[in-house]
Amino acid sequence: MKALIRDRYGPPDVLEVRDIDRPAPKERELLVRVHAASINDWDWQMLQRPMLPLGFNTPRVRILGSDIAGRVAAVGSGVQHFTVGDEVYGDLSRFGSGGWGGFAEYVCVPEVAVIRKPPRMTFEQAAALPQAGQLAVQGLFAAGPLRSGQKILINGAGGGVGTIAIQLAKWQDVEVTGVDSAVKFEMMRAIGFDHVIDYRNENFARNGRRYDLILDTKTTRSPFAYTRSLSPGGTYATVGGDLSRLFQFVIFGWCIRQTTGKTVRLIMLKQNQDLPYLNERFEAGQLIPVIDGPYRLSEAREAFRHFGAGTHNGKVVITME
Ligand SMILES: NC(=O)c1ccc[n+]([C@@H]2O[C@H](COP(=O)([O-])OP(=O)(O)OC[C@H]3O[C@@H](n4cnc5c(N)ncnc54)[C@H](OP(=O)(O)O)[C@@H]3O)[C@@H](O)[C@H]2O)c1
Repeated sequence: MKALIRDRYGPPDVLEVRDIDRPAPKERELLVRVHAASINDWDWQMLQRPMLPLGFNTPRVRILGSDIAGRVAAVGSGVQHFTVGDEVYGDLSRFGSGGWGGFAEYVCVPEVAVIRKPPRMTFEQAAALPQAGQLAVQGLFAAGPLRSGQKILINGAGGGVGTIAIQLAKWQDVEVTGVDSAVKFEMMRAIGFDHVIDYRNENFARNGRRYDLILDTKTTRSPFAYTRSLSPGGTYATVGGDLSRLFQFVIFGWCIRQTTGKTVRLIMLKQNQDLPYLNERFEAGQLIPVIDGPYRLSEAREAFRHFGAGTHNGKVVITME
């Protein structure tokens, strides 16, 4: 089978499509014929350096790719819920045989790592959903269900999380502002943002406006800077950004709540918990993933460069055919 392999850390040039042996599923695993996989920030980070700086120069994960969609090609003897031919998708980052492995024609995954794909959802759409979709759900509803009339701001709005979060928010009566670079504004307006802000020209944390909920995918400031932009009782939920900033949310979160009545939260992804909810929203016609591409596996280096440059709209998807 063909797979996107790397033997060392580095830029997208270290990625090579090679022929390797097709894996065989263990007792409780499925062999999935992967049709599409999407690039996440974790793939980008892991491409370049180890997650922990322990001095190892050879990557443990040689085939990246956590968010996959495909068809079950074989099942292990202990598999209970799937059969050959089922169309499935999920996030393998915590599962897989040793984890990851999605940028390949086949991957073995424990059956708990995937759920069934709705028939009308394409493989490309399904591959776009797992990490970004669930971070969107877990961030957007961090303070409970949205309420009519709320003002919401999404920072990093034109990427994977933001383009899903806006759609999940907009079927309720809320006003949503999106912050990203201006080249993405046309797409952002088309999927429902009421207002847009170019982060290169305006600091939303200093423009005097207040929001009931801020969902941030690119935290760059201290928690105190963001609480200024929250309405009384408001919530700021971050899913990612500058690591040293994210630690401050853990350290100062309790103290901010006690002194201001506002909440700041760091969301840790709960894998595959909210895929059934995303299926429901898709089937109700309230969610259509924004796909950049799809790229072919042979174009994976280009797809990674595009992702790394931040020029993508929504999710960068790679197909294996
Ligand atoms: N919490 C967890 O457990 C967990 C798990 C997985 C991933 N993550 C994190 O979750 C986030 C995933 O976000 P995503 O998939 O939406 O990423 P994405 O697709 O890369 O989108 C991020 C968007 O933010 C824009 N951006 C860059 N810098 C910005 C800034 N300073 N202010 C505002 N916008 C900015 C980017 O556009 P330009 O670059 O063109 O400006 C891009 O459109 C990542 O930070 C990732 O590390 C967290």
